[in-house]
Amino acid sequence: MNISRRDFVQAAAGVAAAGLGGVGRALGQQAAGPGGAPGGAAGRPLVVASSNGLAACEKAMELMLAGNDPVDAVVAGVALVEDDPNDHSVGLGGLPNEEGVVQLDASVMHGPTHKAGAVAAIERIRNPSKVALLVMRRTDHVLLVGDGARRFALAHGFKEEDLLTDAARAQWLRWKENLSKDDDWLSPEESGDPSSRAHRRRPAPVLAPEWTWGTINCLGLTASGDLAGCTTTSGLSYKIPGRVGDSPIIGAGLYVDNDVGAAGSTGRGEANLQNLTSFTAVELMRQGRSPEEACLEALRRVAAKTEKRLRNAAGEPDFDLNLYALRKDGQFGGASLRRPGKMALCDRGGKARHVATPGVYAG
Ligand code: GLY
Repeated sequence: MNISRRDFVQAAAGVAAAGLGGVGRALGQQAAGPGGAPGGAAGRPLVVASSNGLAACEKAMELMLAGNDPVDAVVAGVALVEDDPNDHSVGLGGLPNEEGVVQLDASVMHGPTHKAGAVAAIERIRNPSKVALLVMRRTDHVLLVGDGARRFALAHGFKEEDLLTDAARAQWLRWKENLSKDDDWLSPEESGDPSSRAHRRRPAPVLAPEWTWGTINCLGLTASGDLAGCTTTSGLSYKIPGRVGDSPIIGAGLYVDNDVGAAGSTGRGEANLQNLTSFTAVELMRQGRSPEEACLEALRRVAAKTEKRLRNAAGEPDFDLNLYALRKDGQFGGASLRRPGKMALCDRGGKARHVATPGVYAG
């Protein structure tokens, strides 16, 4: 998908489904979604994730049913996506920073101990979620960044590798070559490269690169009511080196309170860092809101605080931010800032499906 930064929100709508009204998704309720059968999940255990997390949900559920800790289960689930070179928003194959270097962020949080671990701007290690888990378990810290995080991973036996795949490099080059007509980087269209079919058309089309704030968030709830979560990402594509998004920040990209529920986020990290929506959603659930209504209310607060520069002609935020929430009793829900979307879910039946989620704005 070749889209510009501004068009990212529009493209997201292209895969979004019609939204559902209402205030939550109780287990056993009908929760129809794009490509998914009506709901009907039958109680705990339950795993939910962002829409790119179908396989992650199934893996996490399989491991929880086998008796594994939910934090190990969700990390094993998201690692499937980190290992997938075709997902350009996470791990291997993630889109790089402006210098062509892949820098990854991830966090984990474990309900029963209320412990958390995270890494930010880590390079050359494809599974930042696994490193975050070790930060939680094998250090007295919560967050390691950059080269320190990489060296910590190496100390634990992780292998270094170049995470920039040829497909991601091509996207980065397209971005770089289309930044300005006045610099020395020429796109095939500008250079007159005869191998470019586009060159033969007049006027030459602008080839916008893929652009993403993509991420995977996965939340697990065991049969006995224990919660855990993980969020992992390559972050904003073509970011300034060293930029850290919301994913590794506890309370922003992820929050778990074993007495209440868990929440996680994908989308524009900067908006989340300014509003701590995962923490907010859990607090709203503590106050009695359903997961879906908690997500919607947290996102309404983001909308209210959005600076003018990031609003469209109608005055609405022109970016998307998505929240997913799972309550201790097995209720789940999600919402997006811009428009209806979908989330992944897997109950004890073991087959993951998508369910529709509402948007704060209709479109
Ligand atoms: N939510 C991912 C990021 O902004 O980095």
